[in-house]
Amino acid sequence: MDTDALRRDFPILQGGLAYLDNAATSLTPEPVLTAMLDYYHNYRANIHRGAHSLSQRATDRYEEARKKVAKFIGAREDELIFTKNTSEAINLVALTLDWKNGDVVQVGPNEHHSNILPWQRLARQGVKLEFRDAFEFSPNAKLIAVNHISNVLGAQAPVERIAREKGSALLLIDGAQSVPHIPIDVRKLGCDFLAFSGHKMLGPTGIGALYIRREVMAGLEGAFLGGGEVMDVSRSGYKLVKGPQGWEAGTPDIAGAIGLGAACDYLSKLGMQKVHEHCTGLGTLAGERLKGVKNVSVQGAENGIVSFNVGRMKPHDVALLLDKQKIAVRSGHHCAMPLMKKLGVDGTVRASFYIYNTKEEAERLVKEVGEIAELV
Ligand code: ALA
Repeated sequence: MDTDALRRDFPILQGGLAYLDNAATSLTPEPVLTAMLDYYHNYRANIHRGAHSLSQRATDRYEEARKKVAKFIGAREDELIFTKNTSEAINLVALTLDWKNGDVVQVGPNEHHSNILPWQRLARQGVKLEFRDAFEFSPNAKLIAVNHISNVLGAQAPVERIAREKGSALLLIDGAQSVPHIPIDVRKLGCDFLAFSGHKMLGPTGIGALYIRREVMAGLEGAFLGGGEVMDVSRSGYKLVKGPQGWEAGTPDIAGAIGLGAACDYLSKLGMQKVHEHCTGLGTLAGERLKGVKNVSVQGAENGIVSFNVGRMKPHDVALLLDKQKIAVRSGHHCAMPLMKKLGVDGTVRASFYIYNTKEEAERLVKEVGEIAELV
């Protein structure tokens, strides 16, 4: 990875900031911003509504973005719905499926709150929610919902095996941390739903996507109804457009979708295997070296995500000291409180690497953490 060249696309990095909070949100490169600005400057109009040429152009660019994002995960464009983010995409599945009393939802051992709370609300209505301590699920579940890569530990779930063994259960993968980091092909994964966010993969905030396998989508009606998705309405009822457009009520984040399409172009040009190797390399280097630092305990270091604690210091205090040295990390429970309880900590410090990070930054992190650990 030619990080020197890459970093020129990220002006925010000028001035020596080591930005290691990519699992929360990545930065946005100039070509993505340019694509979004082009929409606002040159063809800002609503989509799927106007006969005038600006609206046609905006519609074409929006649908082109859908194709790019779908292709990025090996899906067809009629299987890809734009959402606000991963959380909204998971909630959409929870709101859309037809639940019956006693239906079982099983979740994995390392879930983010976004893949817990929607099911806990359903549990109040008679759905049975089961937390699994290992990646073993039963085929009699209605839905298995599991994160592909943990946002805390970087640990990767064996989703292909889960898909093979799932029987008639539907499989929802929370891809918030995997889609930005590893090559993804939904056909190989064998999932029914894949939820992910644009802002963790160089796109803007406020745009994400939900893949729904075509055969599954055919039997469902989206949870939100309104303008832009209708074929016919009369006082006695409505008929929705088939496919993703029938799921996207109201004016969507048009510039955001176009930006996410440009982000997919950017990542595809780099090659996702290279992206994966680069981030994993830096995470492993930092993780291995931190393991050798006195008073530091590493909770996990995989897929470019390193979570650790420094003695009994509060993770936020460690993060504030690192911030003084121009190193940005996340600290706290990372929206995964049940996992924190299992680990026996209130929180961790988390460094997460992306394409523009360097070996020097990983080493700088280890050095600064070492100095903080001396204070313990
Ligand atoms: N889920 C994001 C994180 O892990 C926000 O930081």
